[in-house]
Amino acid sequence: MSSRVLVTGAGGMLGQDVVRAARAAGLEPVALPRAELDVTDADAVAAALARARADAVVNCAAWTDVDGAEADPDGARAVNATAPGVLARAAADAGARLVHVSTDYVFDGDRPADAAPYVESDATGPRSVYGATKLEGEQAVAAAGGSHAIVRTSWLFGVGGANFAATMLRLAAERDELSVVTDQVGFPTATAHLAPALVSLAAGEARAAEGIVHVAGGGEPCSWNAFATEIFRQADVACRVLPCTTAEMPRPAPRPAFSALVSERDDAPRLPRWQEGLSDFLHARKVTA
Ligand SMILES: NC(=O)c1ccc[n+]([C@@H]2O[C@H](COP(=O)([O-])OP(=O)(O)OC[C@H]3O[C@@H](n4cnc5c(N)ncnc54)[C@H](OP(=O)(O)O)[C@@H]3O)[C@@H](O)[C@H]2O)c1
Repeated sequence: MSSRVLVTGAGGMLGQDVVRAARAAGLEPVALPRAELDVTDADAVAAALARARADAVVNCAAWTDVDGAEADPDGARAVNATAPGVLARAAADAGARLVHVSTDYVFDGDRPADAAPYVESDATGPRSVYGATKLEGEQAVAAAGGSHAIVRTSWLFGVGGANFAATMLRLAAERDELSVVTDQVGFPTATAHLAPALVSLAAGEARAAEGIVHVAGGGEPCSWNAFATEIFRQADVACRVLPCTTAEMPRPAPRPAFSALVSERDDAPRLPRWQEGLSDFLHARKVTA
């Protein structure tokens, strides 16, 4: 009998790809979008776990509006911090392993652009409400005591939701030049590449990995400006990418300037270079258009 994997936030950008990846791996996904399971409803979470009889849970539900979290910290905390703890305890009670998704924004990013990427054992120091609530969520999952992997990832893009790559392509259709920041550096990560790694951590080869695991696009880190340049190069779009700084583009929530993640663990799944993720994304976009 194949493993059953419950996916929360299954309607989100990553959630959709996790459901696809679970199916592709021969597992039985139980896909619960927000309309079918609100993870802030503890009774509903317990009932869903009991009903699903899942061997593993992948939590893709989150408050992902980074700027909006500054205005509503309680709302963000309920989804990103309290709910993962409740989910982790319910999963532990049901004997299901939990794979919980976290973020590079748990780091302060105060490293120079050419510094070594963050590894799992580096000190955290979130600069935003979003980052702080995601870090609290990590701690709540660990405190629940069940089998779990907390996967920190970064700069996600996929066909199932709004993301930087899709925004750049939309804007390029309207303008012939765009200003993009050069002073934020990280690893772009294709959800289509991350999703099979999460499935592997949930019920596949990597299921023995416990605790925090960094999984992001491979290769060399880049700035958003360099990412935009590569998007237009691969998509063969004639749009000039001009340099600008974060200070010139103020946003409500501060972003870590440097948030590249790599893993120091032997048992961490490794993803292809982010440029390959981008190429697969652009291809999938054409197919689904
Ligand atoms: N996007 C990135 O660049 C990035 C980077 C690093 C880490 N991450 C992490 O990756 C994970 C997946 O993010 P994503 O990019 O796929 O974002 P997403 O598309 O916004 O997906 C999040 C999903 O969670 C759902 N959700 C929100 N509140 C919920 C609740 N109370 N109960 C159940 N579902 C709820 C959302 O539903 P609605 O849309 O209906 O609100 C949405 O479908 C998150 O943990 C995020 O923190 C994302």
